[in-house]
Amino acid sequence: MTTHPTGTAPGPEQQLREAELTDRVTASFDSCPDPRLRQLMSGLVRHLHAYVREVRLTEEEWNRAIDFLTRCGDITDDRRQEFILLSDVLGASMQTVTVNNEAHGDATEATVFGPFFVEDSPAVPLGGDISAGAPGEPCWVEGTVIDTAGTPLAGARIEVWEADETGHYDVQHDDHRTAARGHLVTDSQGRFRFWAVTPTPYPIPHDGPVGELLKSVGRSPMRASHLHFKVTHEDCRTLVTHIFVRGDELLDSDAVFGVRDSLVKDFEQQPAAPTPDGRIVQGPWTRARFDIVLAPAKA
Ligand code: BEZ
Ligand code: FE
Repeated sequence: MTTHPTGTAPGPEQQLREAELTDRVTASFDSCPDPRLRQLMSGLVRHLHAYVREVRLTEEEWNRAIDFLTRCGDITDDRRQEFILLSDVLGASMQTVTVNNEAHGDATEATVFGPFFVEDSPAVPLGGDISAGAPGEPCWVEGTVIDTAGTPLAGARIEVWEADETGHYDVQHDDHRTAARGHLVTDSQGRFRFWAVTPTPYPIPHDGPVGELLKSVGRSPMRASHLHFKVTHEDCRTLVTHIFVRGDELLDSDAVFGVRDSLVKDFEQQPAAPTPDGRIVQGPWTRARFDIVLAPAKA
């Protein structure tokens, strides 16, 4: 048991009193008619009390925590979700993803969804350009969607979205633009290909309480450069993931712990023409090739 900030470990009487309170509160859920809710609530209370006891939380610290959560609520609206950001920077989002996407053969690993997905993104033909004018270095992305047996998956729907080189998603600009996002459908051999912009690093929103927290603990709000993917196919488990850029300095310090080694791919710098589809590109561009492996759907 961790000692009190004053250095005094709680005596046996005190420990009994604290344990008895935890037992009483967990027992208060015994008659909950929904067994899952009962499990969720009693587990939460057990761990919360264990935390309060382990760190010997002071009343002043608890009040500050309540104030912090209140400020998270104050800044949250239909465009800003500070509680999800909090869950992200505490690794709770990534741990929930990990628990719910068990490894299956060499299925592509899942990672956090993030707040910038938008339903009804533009349909983009194979070989088309998702950037729609978003500023950034052009990037050609190609690969195949396969199942864990290696069979190509025709008709898989790929949603892709990313920040532009200013570090913002389209929805963070004030002009209602739709850019750097779209969806494609794989061809009869499971292949996909499209133009995008080369991913660049950007900060998670850090002008609120979560940003203050990161600053107080000496952590950076920066995310490693990535492309977001959501891939669906009727026979398979839906995959939400990112593809990261090999060599990015932020791979080991991603603010939301979203990086998996298997998701880091080469984005090779290309000097000039020719481009894969004959497109004329002004200046340098990059090229990335990777397959996306989907686990089977649960029976
Ligand atoms: C993102 O990758 O878009 C993101 C993920 C978590 C928090 C903020 C942004
Ligand atoms: Fe992102």
